[in-house]
Amino acid sequence: MTAPRTHIFRLLKWGRILARHGALKGLEAAPQTPPEVRRLFRIARLGASVPKTPDYAGAFRAIGPAAIKLGQTLATRPDLVGEEAAINLLSLQDSLPPVPFPEIRAEIELGLGGPLERFFAHVDPVPVGAASIAQVHRGTTIEGRDVAIKVLRPGVRKNFARDIETYEWAAAHLEALGGEATRLRPQLTIANFKRWTMRELDLRREAASASELASAMDGHPGYRVPEIDWDRTCGTVMTLEWIDGIKISNREALIAAGHDLPDLARRLVLAFLRQAIAGGFFHADMHQGNLFVAPDSTIVAIDFGIMGRINRQARFWLAEILYGLTTGNYKRVAEIHFEAQYVPSYHNVDEFATALRAVGEP
Ligand SMILES: Nc1ncnc2c1ncn2[C@@H]1O[C@H](COP(=O)(O)OP(=O)(O)O)[C@@H](O)[C@H]1O
Ligand SMILES: [Mg+2]
Repeated sequence: MTAPRTHIFRLLKWGRILARHGALKGLEAAPQTPPEVRRLFRIARLGASVPKTPDYAGAFRAIGPAAIKLGQTLATRPDLVGEEAAINLLSLQDSLPPVPFPEIRAEIELGLGGPLERFFAHVDPVPVGAASIAQVHRGTTIEGRDVAIKVLRPGVRKNFARDIETYEWAAAHLEALGGEATRLRPQLTIANFKRWTMRELDLRREAASASELASAMDGHPGYRVPEIDWDRTCGTVMTLEWIDGIKISNREALIAAGHDLPDLARRLVLAFLRQAIAGGFFHADMHQGNLFVAPDSTIVAIDFGIMGRINRQARFWLAEILYGLTTGNYKRVAEIHFEAQYVPSYHNVDEFATALRAVGEP
């Protein structure tokens, strides 16, 4: 058990970093902020020089990887944090300074249990990508296969576990204050955050998701998942087939290579529907940085840290909603939202159908 004074010390340290980036001002001014929390903020910013425009992303980056992840989550909720903060937080998706290769080598050797040379003929010391949780290096196995090696940042698991413990402590105390602080259910929010990030911190689990998706999509034309190299995969290292392709975000290059863009779009949508609606297991981090187009035009997905599951009933609802929206049957779409309790029953179905039409027709 970590002592309360350790949690308080960490919170004050983070509070001070937030204050120096001007990230506490909004919260301090908000009328809903409990007076106890406001007092803590005042102590945190004591004597700090506070900039005019808040830099939330800079503050989260300075605090550490768990805060970066939390910030990335908040970036998707402009309804909670406000438009301006959400836009600022989006920069947390940019790449970070990489971990020097000697440390990555040590992490691979520790994870796989032997000298690097026993597994790889060559590993490029310059990473192809470096994010808050992991970085990726290109390499060749001793058998001569081209691979991508994804390695957790050294210490990231311990770091997360430690910080989340303090989040939990703070959430419990916040919730006990009552009022607005209780209504936002901070403990449940942190529990969810913990569940999702702990999954991302286990690369063997990510490899298993890739493998599960590969079998689910077996035989689906024009879409595939790279093969996992299980002999070189553990909790902290994942080795998979290297994909020589164009990132789907690089529109110019796709056109230059002669790919048929409308056909790619159609296949991507079909691949998603096949996963989510037919299978109920889908790639839930399907942004343009995680999709490649191979020379033969096959779409290849990477990065399986976040996957979604939908039960059978919800798949029917989702299918009916999409079908209703594309065929203009707004009444049916509205009814499903009530049936599924996506919309509370005290609203009016016909009003909701009109609102859907206002969005769907244009
Ligand atoms: N199998 C692969 N083949 C080629 N490049 C890869 C492969 N896997 C990852 N990469 C490169 O590394 C980057 C980061 O990998 P990714 O799995 O998306 O990690 P993160 O979870 O940090 O986003 C990718 O955007 C891509 O450029
Ligand atoms: Mg990625």
